[in-house]
Amino acid sequence: MIRDLSMPPVIPSGRIGDSPQPVVPAADGLFLRPWEAADAPVFLAAYQDDAIRRWHTRRPSNEARVLEWFSAYRRDWAAERGGHWAVVAGDGAVLGRTALRGWDFGDGAAELAYWVLPAARGAGVATRAVEALTVWAMEEIGFHRLHLDHSTLNSASCRVATKSGYLLEGTKRSAAVHDDGRHDMHLHARTRES
Ligand SMILES: CC(C)(COP(=O)(O)OP(=O)(O)OC[C@H]1O[C@@H](n2cnc3c(N)ncnc32)[C@H](O)[C@@H]1OP(=O)(O)O)[C@@H](O)C(=O)NCCC(=O)NCCS
Repeated sequence: MIRDLSMPPVIPSGRIGDSPQPVVPAADGLFLRPWEAADAPVFLAAYQDDAIRRWHTRRPSNEARVLEWFSAYRRDWAAERGGHWAVVAGDGAVLGRTALRGWDFGDGAAELAYWVLPAARGAGVATRAVEALTVWAMEEIGFHRLHLDHSTLNSASCRVATKSGYLLEGTKRSAAVHDDGRHDMHLHARTRES
């Protein structure tokens, strides 16, 4: 519940969290679906990949912790704080992850996140997932602005963001701690107008 705003919130509270988290179709047979307990091994394995470890400092240490993360994801949805999806191929194989977190219904803003498993990279999985989630968030839910941050050294993420219409807005100096120290972070955003 958002209280004491001078303007009505961009997105009214209490409309989304009471509904089941949807399956969101993406291009070419991909879809986004909520995480399931059976995904715990693949989710845990993703965080053994060097590239994912390089850019994601919060990592589950075992399958039990993954299941706790999945429970937190369900609580995020119910509390209208965020949504977390597996990116899945038509045959049901998990290819990656995408999420919208930090929901701010007052401003209609949220933060995007993603990774793709090593074997599925370079085939447009991230781009298709981001496009599908963006369209859902803006057209179905009513978000006005979605943003994402990535290290200035992460050229793959920079390309995904730019290709998906998330324009580079600037550099946040020394903004995030990674395993090898502090990194400057690019801020990208897509709005309804751009
Ligand atoms: C970044 C990541 C999600 C990209 O996923 P992907 O499915 O391979 O991306 P796509 O196939 O949709 O590629 C989109 C664009 O990025 C480019 N790209 C992909 N990997 C790249 C790389 N290593 N370096 C430069 N560009 C790259 C692609 O060439 C494509 O651009 P193009 O169409 O102009 O050629 C994936 O590499 C990954 O999970 N990396 C590790 C975790 C991570 O970086 N997460 C994001 C943290 S902010």
